[in-house]
Amino acid sequence: MQKLTINESRLLVFGGPYGNLAATRQLRERARFLGLAPSQVICSGDLVAYCGDPVETLELVRDWGIPVVMGNCEESLANDEADCGCGFAPNSHCSLLAVTWYRYAAARINLDHRRWMAALPRAIDVEFAGRSLRFVHGSLDSINQFVFPSTPREEKQAQLERAGVDILVGGHSGIPFGQRIGDRWWLNAGVIGMPANDGGQHVWYMLLEARDDALEVSWHRLEYDYEASYRSTLAAGMAEYAQALRDGLWPSMDILPQAERRQRGQALEPAMLTMPGSCARRALESAV
Ligand SMILES: [Fe+2]
Repeated sequence: MQKLTINESRLLVFGGPYGNLAATRQLRERARFLGLAPSQVICSGDLVAYCGDPVETLELVRDWGIPVVMGNCEESLANDEADCGCGFAPNSHCSLLAVTWYRYAAARINLDHRRWMAALPRAIDVEFAGRSLRFVHGSLDSINQFVFPSTPREEKQAQLERAGVDILVGGHSGIPFGQRIGDRWWLNAGVIGMPANDGGQHVWYMLLEARDDALEVSWHRLEYDYEASYRSTLAAGMAEYAQALRDGLWPSMDILPQAERRQRGQALEPAMLTMPGSCARRALESAV
């Protein structure tokens, strides 16, 4: 468990670069444009997955020096496991597709990359704007649990209570969302390596900003050179993933609950949540 205190007023969160080098470059450029230091950016894991530039993407994030939560892809590659550990059902379309990218990535990363991935924390606890946040990849219990908007609130609530934090931030599921559960929150930034199955080529990231009287959470589109990632992913032999970058639609919905399947191709709009309560006051109280 890594523990951080972020004293600045803004924090950028993103998930799943997935070997999508053009998107990761664009996100880093966005953070620079926003004036965010590496200590104000957190990645929820899965640097290497479906797209064609695993090594370059991993090295870009590593060079950036931002905190990164271990994803199931890092765990599997670091341990030289037989598959990506995504939690796909055996012989499902997702499972069969994943064989291709996993072999491609595993053949290209070196021992130094594996050691770096093995040293990543499974969770990062962050004090920010007077709130306590825990960043995980899947859920509190499992690195590869898919937590979606439709996942029962009771399950999220139980995990939030056991974690004892104000906000749990997960990744892994690829869908950006935020839900208030009592006086706590479950957040997911979405991913930058694949579209959100919403029919657009853009990807998503999340910003947290401390205001005088509230903490604001907002989700933002990231436009990037998806044609560059299409070409490299196609050249790497992952044609269905390459097409998903162009179509904005996932090649398979095996992992999605019915509620999220019905959202396929429906455009997501940038959203904002407001968490009431003075950030400065809460920070002061927590310091006393
Ligand atoms: Fe994952």
